[in-house]
Amino acid sequence: MASEEMYLQYHGLLLPKETHSPESLKFVRKYTFSDSDVLAVTYPKSGTIWMQEILPLLLNGGDLRPIHTIPNWDRAPWLEETRLAVVVDQLPSPRALVSHLPYHLMPPSFLASKAKVIYVMRNPKDVVVSSYYFHQMAGFLPDPGTFEEFMEKFLEGRVLFGKWTDHVKSWKHTELGDRIMYITYEEMVQDLPAALRRMSDFLGRNLSEEVIEKIAENCSFETMKTNTMSNFSLIPKVLMDDNKSPFLRKGVVGDWKNHFSSEQLTRFISVISKELENESFSLPWSLD
Ligand code: A3P
Repeated sequence: MASEEMYLQYHGLLLPKETHSPESLKFVRKYTFSDSDVLAVTYPKSGTIWMQEILPLLLNGGDLRPIHTIPNWDRAPWLEETRLAVVVDQLPSPRALVSHLPYHLMPPSFLASKAKVIYVMRNPKDVVVSSYYFHQMAGFLPDPGTFEEFMEKFLEGRVLFGKWTDHVKSWKHTELGDRIMYITYEEMVQDLPAALRRMSDFLGRNLSEEVIEKIAENCSFETMKTNTMSNFSLIPKVLMDDNKSPFLRKGVVGDWKNHFSSEQLTRFISVISKELENESFSLPWSLD
């Protein structure tokens, strides 16, 4: 299938047709946010399914049943995907949701509500590598070509959900005040219990150390990799082929070092830095 046929265009963004439709995008506009809803927002490949594991457990006090019985896409559905309309009425309250939408495309009810957001940011050098392998295994996305070719597409924003820099800028400039919390993938890898404590405090959950430790164990890379409800092994191979590359691939910080040439690194840093040069915020990591 030609690459254009795999995407639909939504306000200038490319969205995979496999999981998005004009109806699903209309559904989001009308979705009524509750004040108790919690949304994890990510640019693709920054830790979305990790948050689908974490959020329900933080919100239910560490009851493991959802992660053992409900696939991740139904447990904390994507706001913009077709699946939301099917499962929305079965979601327990408080609802856990995820989204890749930029801030300006959030529905009106979100802005009017008190729903909280956790924005997870990952070093874009590792994002592009993770995305490169994801395009190899996902039958519903175009073939990435060489790493060099894919990096160019990524830097130009000709990939799902557009440019990384646009996404970050959009969520760094909101009027959400204390309704939004920022965390990095790197922080979560470095000390998951500490990251969980920070999220739990933000969500007003008073979880014991014992519960935090239990959630951390069950949301570790190793545990999630063997959890059929979280590793996408329930998805037909034509859509996601883990023989080509597992969805839970490496789960580490700094894999870009195994992929970038020094020329690619210079080009990557120069493009990203230029796009962020007039921004009032700074990135949590050095791009070098
Ligand atoms: P890698 O490809 O670098 O391994 P998303 O869910 O947004 O698509 O992000 C996928 C990335 O998050 C993959 O990165 C995946 O391995 C990583 N990931 C998922 N769960 C994780 C966990 N428990 N610990 C560390 N990384 C995790």
